[in-house]
Amino acid sequence: MRVVSGIKPTGNLHLGNYLGAVKQWVAMQDEVQASGGETMFFIADLHGLTEWIAPAELRANTIEMTATLVAAGIDPARSILFNQTRVPAHSELSWLLNNVARVGWLNRMTQFKDKAGKNREGASVGLYDYPVLMAADVLLYNATHVPVGEDQKQHLELARDIATKFNTDYATELFTLPEPLVSRAAPRIMSLRDAGAKMSKSNPSEMSLIKLIDADDVIADKFRKAKTDPDVLPGNVEGLDGRAEAKNLVTIFAALADRTPADVLAEYEGKGFGAFKPALADLAVATLGPIRDEMTRLLDDAAAIDAILDRGAEKARDLAAPVLRQAQEAMGLVV
Ligand code: TYM
Repeated sequence: MRVVSGIKPTGNLHLGNYLGAVKQWVAMQDEVQASGGETMFFIADLHGLTEWIAPAELRANTIEMTATLVAAGIDPARSILFNQTRVPAHSELSWLLNNVARVGWLNRMTQFKDKAGKNREGASVGLYDYPVLMAADVLLYNATHVPVGEDQKQHLELARDIATKFNTDYATELFTLPEPLVSRAAPRIMSLRDAGAKMSKSNPSEMSLIKLIDADDVIADKFRKAKTDPDVLPGNVEGLDGRAEAKNLVTIFAALADRTPADVLAEYEGKGFGAFKPALADLAVATLGPIRDEMTRLLDDAAAIDAILDRGAEKARDLAAPVLRQAQEAMGLVV
């Protein structure tokens, strides 16, 4: 079993990334290694380029995101932690796979449609090609499992299609089909201002997302002002149907506390948000506060963080080299 996943350094970690992906990564690090498997996590800095970001910001975010992952529990001694740029095989395999992926497949990608919006002609080619680089990220290591939020499932299905076509076209069994693992507890955390949109770094409203770097009182304030309805909490999960904002807050509570939503509702049945929101804020502060403080401490020594990425990249390059070479040879390239 080899678990591989990545995160873009386009801003600091938010609660959606944490509950949808990173929390799973930390849990898997223990489980997978207990069974002799391997875990690899990377900063998708090349994906970070697909939408404009100032160079200084990208650089700082890459170090900050690495410190955040370590603070959240990714142990560089047990997991391979690196950034894409230092493993050129990601870019190289991506080019090879560009010749396997079909334009029609990419045209169906909902993330591209959402991000490009009406201005498709003005979107970068990188944004369009994003899922092919993502396929390279996982196929390069023969990843068996890829823990991600629900929004990335379609991209991983594409990675499976690319792997299947490559294996067929070149009569090989080189690539393993990766299995997406979507968190059951928090597949899609929604914005605190509009439960019709996912919580996202690109949302312009500061109040819509809880960031890891938020101070305790800011976290509490954002939950206090989160959009809700005037009703009390129901006694069961079905009672949340049609109440998207309430459902989102209960999901966040349950995921943070490692409880089921039903269990949370059993405790809060009949109570209003005036009681629920402060409890939720306390829980979020208790979880995120220590990660934030540890991240800040780690950032005192940015060179040490850079060294973690460097050592991780060295290990990743060793694993990637033979797979890239086999892919090149399978295609008839002279290597
Ligand atoms: P990024 O940085 O946008 O998101 C990182 C992870 O967080 C999950 N996520 C969420 N989960 C639940 N609710 C939300 N509101 C929410 N927002 C984000 C994402 O699904 C993701 O798992 N394309 C990837 C980065 C990547 C990657 C890869 C992942 C590049 N190559 C290869 C896996 C394998 C992304 O969305 O990053």
